[in-house]
Amino acid sequence: MILPPLRSWPATLVPAPVFTDAEVQELGSGGLVVREGALGDELAAALRARLEALDAAGALLPAGLGHDGRLVPALRADRAATLEELGADPVLEAVWAWFDRLRQALVEATWVGLPRFSVQLACYPGGGARYARHVDALPGDTNRLFTAIVYLNPAWQPEHGGRLRAWVRGQPRELDPTWDRLVVFRSEAVPHEVLPAWAPRYAAAAWMRGAEAVPALADPEVVRRRARGEEE
Ligand code: OGA
Ligand code: MN
Repeated sequence: MILPPLRSWPATLVPAPVFTDAEVQELGSGGLVVREGALGDELAAALRARLEALDAAGALLPAGLGHDGRLVPALRADRAATLEELGADPVLEAVWAWFDRLRQALVEATWVGLPRFSVQLACYPGGGARYARHVDALPGDTNRLFTAIVYLNPAWQPEHGGRLRAWVRGQPRELDPTWDRLVVFRSEAVPHEVLPAWAPRYAAAAWMRGAEAVPALADPEVVRRRARGEEE
């Protein structure tokens, strides 16, 4: 769903990053781009407060795995909701507007068409909640091209765990989910996991999408069958 235009958040939305050529190269070759101070303190704090309130009100639901959304808490134990589900609210609209600017910045930097996006708010409640290794682009379905995550944890300590562990060209790289930190990567290129979190861990994740679903595997036989309009 398209949210209505921004109503009452102050006009001072922090600009989305301008990606350098080196960063575009890094994204293209399966790397991570990390920026600090993404949303700005004001919006990040408002979003964090909103997220806590939504979670307390039961608006975030246990998140599942794969196409069927199967619940397997040992493998994935966050509670989540999409902005589209949560509907209009000045803070969430501002967050939506910010991710839309990020989407435009990615289009301008990479020349990849990204007409659609979605944003999910997530809380790992602590107690060892994790998300096992996965990639964000599921075969044949979501057509997610870029993942962008902003972390909303002002006092994160190493002993809280909850790191993002991403495999960049086969090598693990770990990032703490610290305050207003942005990480961007290609959804299908970077396997990643959330290591067990021992304190509540909040984040907003956006998936920038292409125009239409593409076959996950460029299997020439699948492409030929689709072109002939045959069942798979
Ligand atoms: C996800 C995910 C990582 C994180 O929601 O798909 O991998 O660091 N999140 O929150
Ligand atoms: Mn993921």
